[in-house]
Amino acid sequence: MRMHFLVTAGPTREHLDPIRFISNCSTGKMGFALAEAAVARGHDVTLVAGPVALPTPAGVTRVDVVSACEMLAAVQRHLVVADVLIMSAAVADWRPLVVSGSKLKKRTMPPVLELIPNPDILGAVAPLKGARIFVGFAAETGDPLPEARRKLVDKGLDLIVANDVSQPDAGFAADTNRVTLLGSDGATETLPLMRKAEVAARIVAWVEARCALYLQDR
Ligand code: CTP
Repeated sequence: MRMHFLVTAGPTREHLDPIRFISNCSTGKMGFALAEAAVARGHDVTLVAGPVALPTPAGVTRVDVVSACEMLAAVQRHLVVADVLIMSAAVADWRPLVVSGSKLKKRTMPPVLELIPNPDILGAVAPLKGARIFVGFAAETGDPLPEARRKLVDKGLDLIVANDVSQPDAGFAADTNRVTLLGSDGATETLPLMRKAEVAARIVAWVEARCALYLQDR
């Protein structure tokens, strides 16, 4: 069945002035691989991308954003037509309270940066879930499974993809990943080290199988 995938990818940037920001090490590779894998299976794909240096995969509709608030607005706008939301973006949890319109000067800049929490995108769109399939990621340093289990439940997800980003072959910039898929039905599948393209294909296949089951149950 042809579905519409809404995929987020990359980091967000939380500016404190026009040239400085808080961000993280995400490169967007996993999210872009997911977008490409879904298109390869004949699905429609909207890719909401934070600032990354990656070309748009053929057949993908790309929406560029910078901050977490912009990403939330884009997800809210495009979720309406989506059947599946995959939140692979590494969303910054905090943003500076004050954003300066001009470059901050070291002589006048306060030594402590005051932050305010960003919205949790999955939390904010949870009321719109309905029959949609929601997939999240838990990128942790160390054993990711306890945190992944917590986030699967807390964020009301159908699937969470857990990985240990402290491993050099499974981190943000790597072309490979080593993940465990945890389904809300209790199913757990630990995949061996594989290319992010293969991990992406497995996640898309999981979503397709889940959707087929869902239709069968109706
Ligand atoms: N996420 C989100 N909105 C945020 C932060 C994260 O939707 N503001 C999504 C991510 O895209 C990912 C999942 O939630 O799919 C887990 O993200 P993660 O950063 O691991 O979790 P947090 O909720 O930020 O929790 P913690 O900082 O405690 O790890």
